[in-house]
Amino acid sequence: MSLTILTAACSKQAATPTAIPSDPRIEERVDSLLTQMTLDEKIGQMTELAIDVLGNMVDGEFRLDDAKLHKAIGEYKVGSVLNAPGPVAQSAQCWNDIIGRIQEVSMKEIGIPCIYGLDQNHGTTYTLGGTFFPQNINMGASFNPELVGEATRITAYETRASNCPWTYSPTVDMARDPRWPRVWENYGEDCLLNAVMGSAAVRGFQGYDPNHVGADRIATSVKHYMGYSQPRTGKDRTPAYISTAELREKCFAPFKACVEAGALTIMVNSSSINGLPVHANRELLTQWLKEELGWDGMLVTDWADINNLYTREHIATDKKDAIRIAINAGIDMAMEPYDLHFCTLLKELVQEGKVPMSRIDDAVRRVLRLKSRLGLFERPNTLLADYPLFGSKEHAAVALRAAEESEVLLKNKNNILPLSKGKKLLVTGPNANAMRCLNGGWSYTWQGHLADRFASQYNTIYEALQQKFGTENVRLEQGVTYVPEGGYAEENEPEIDKAVAAARQADVIIACIGENSYCETPGNLSDLTLSTNQRNLVKALADTGKPIVLVLNEGRPRIINDLEPLADGIIDILLPGNYGGDALANILAGDANPSAKMPYTYPRHPAELITYDYRVSEEMDKMEGAYDYDAVVSVQWPFGYGLSYTRFDYSNFQVSTPSFDATDELRFSVDVTNSGPRAGKEVVMLFSSDLVASLTPENRRLRAFSKVELQPGETKNVTLTIPASDLAFVGADGKWVLEQGDFRMQSGNQTLNITCRQTHRWETPNR
Ligand code: BGC
Repeated sequence: MSLTILTAACSKQAATPTAIPSDPRIEERVDSLLTQMTLDEKIGQMTELAIDVLGNMVDGEFRLDDAKLHKAIGEYKVGSVLNAPGPVAQSAQCWNDIIGRIQEVSMKEIGIPCIYGLDQNHGTTYTLGGTFFPQNINMGASFNPELVGEATRITAYETRASNCPWTYSPTVDMARDPRWPRVWENYGEDCLLNAVMGSAAVRGFQGYDPNHVGADRIATSVKHYMGYSQPRTGKDRTPAYISTAELREKCFAPFKACVEAGALTIMVNSSSINGLPVHANRELLTQWLKEELGWDGMLVTDWADINNLYTREHIATDKKDAIRIAINAGIDMAMEPYDLHFCTLLKELVQEGKVPMSRIDDAVRRVLRLKSRLGLFERPNTLLADYPLFGSKEHAAVALRAAEESEVLLKNKNNILPLSKGKKLLVTGPNANAMRCLNGGWSYTWQGHLADRFASQYNTIYEALQQKFGTENVRLEQGVTYVPEGGYAEENEPEIDKAVAAARQADVIIACIGENSYCETPGNLSDLTLSTNQRNLVKALADTGKPIVLVLNEGRPRIINDLEPLADGIIDILLPGNYGGDALANILAGDANPSAKMPYTYPRHPAELITYDYRVSEEMDKMEGAYDYDAVVSVQWPFGYGLSYTRFDYSNFQVSTPSFDATDELRFSVDVTNSGPRAGKEVVMLFSSDLVASLTPENRRLRAFSKVELQPGETKNVTLTIPASDLAFVGADGKWVLEQGDFRMQSGNQTLNITCRQTHRWETPNR
């Protein structure tokens, strides 16, 4: 399949959800196993432990411990293990040995294979020498689901080379709050974008037959179900308050799409929505997901989240009470991760009648079905020797292409870019020379803080620019540096004068600013504005009068409204991974033409945080009378914004059915012409605006998109088709409704109006 020319449009399919069709042979095996298993064995299958519980660090190396293995697997019958020892990435061979030994003990002691899980979140996070792709936020910015499919297929292959059959990916939480430290783990702020990219990832990881996952594919765990990304404070794992309508219409949508793509497991949101921790929410876990979608996959907790029900959330009196609440709500597997008391307490709860045996059987059935679908009974291990393409050049080429397609050109005053060869460049700023910054979190370690130790064979921005523009033309003087291997916000005493002196000798300043790597709660912040040192650096450099190209390298949008006017060129490379420096060099030299678009709204001010699909009342002209005021939405760069080195013109926007009913299909077409000087790719987007609705309508909603490649002078007629039911919304009563009236549709600078003839309400929870 060609990655360069994409014509298939992406839109949400509104068809009735289809669960994975059950395979009678798998169901028979599961039934037969269940009848033979003791309660202890069943509870063991519902337990997941961290690898550290099974061994010890000896001289800096992890060794499995036979006595610990025997206790967990032999006595407690534990059926799942996760994480890297340390937790630090291991070689593929080391994973073959570790997981191979665990499988040996599992088959001997229980006769049921273990399922091992790793956060292979943007490539092989925890396997040394594997391929790292850009983070999901970049993949969202590429607006190219085929690239997502390729990247996840390769990650699956390399994870199987590591003898691991399961990953905790993809993340489809939606990056709707720029303060949140996990913005970069998602595909952007929009639910359709997350739905399309998330389902492409599910198919890439698992393949197309979820009942028979091949030996080169792995099971996904789509996370974190759901509403995790919108905490009121912006801090990780703090409460969210989200209306039922928004939960159903937006937060649920990507998970539903992933279920329809065959997702085998789902991980639950660690925090609470409207006061109730999601791990205790039977309606969301059992009713919405398992019953309404008919999903027979497995629900795993996030890290220690049953314990958190009493230690952090205070909705349970003790651990036993927490287990009762979570298992009855619908949890199938507890990522415990350290304490075998989970097993004894759950057994007591069953014996006391507080957790019904039917719930245990349902949970275990889901675990065994998963293991069967993965082929683990027939083939508990996969061997590195059978995966010759592990860490290959072919895989690297896809990662480089993904990085090139995901770095967003935001400003190009007087066409300062691409840079002509022979110019003297100063590369400066704290992000100029570190693999850690390019990769972000989930890179060799959880916080990504050791990436420079493990990724030294790849090019930093400085190294890539040296290679591209010639060592003699590229000088490094950072001015501001991070504390190596320190917390993400720790900076050393600045040396701005040195950078300014070097700038005076240069023709162009490439200022690489942003954030160091972080993940989850350690990435919390209390000020969204870019650090003072970095802002001072850019201002001092601007005083030299030399042109500045700002390279933003950050996990979330840090406020730079005072720096934007000082730069001639700005490119947001987000977190592009191990090939991100090379991709940037290609773009700056004009060897690659940027085609990425902002996957979220980049805020201009710290107290004006908004997403593109805001309600129209956010923006008002002056009101008449004594109390006149206006409300103006002011952002730095809108969702979907991004420049190219060529120009695309839109014309001839048409629709097949200007007046429609709920069951119609709407086919839009638009001519897109490359009227600039070079070949390029354009993301053609289709937006809708409901002009009058019973709930204040949103400004715009993305309904479909398609990435096309055009040669100079070429015109393509691009078709974007959606079911009319996609224009429905969830009303105040929590039900889907498509209301009679007009919608304005938009693609590029083209608009047209269409009319829904008759209101239609859905009585079912999903359309
Ligand atoms: C994170 C998850 C991750 C899990 C297992 C948790 O802290 O929230 O995203 O999959 O750990 O490592």
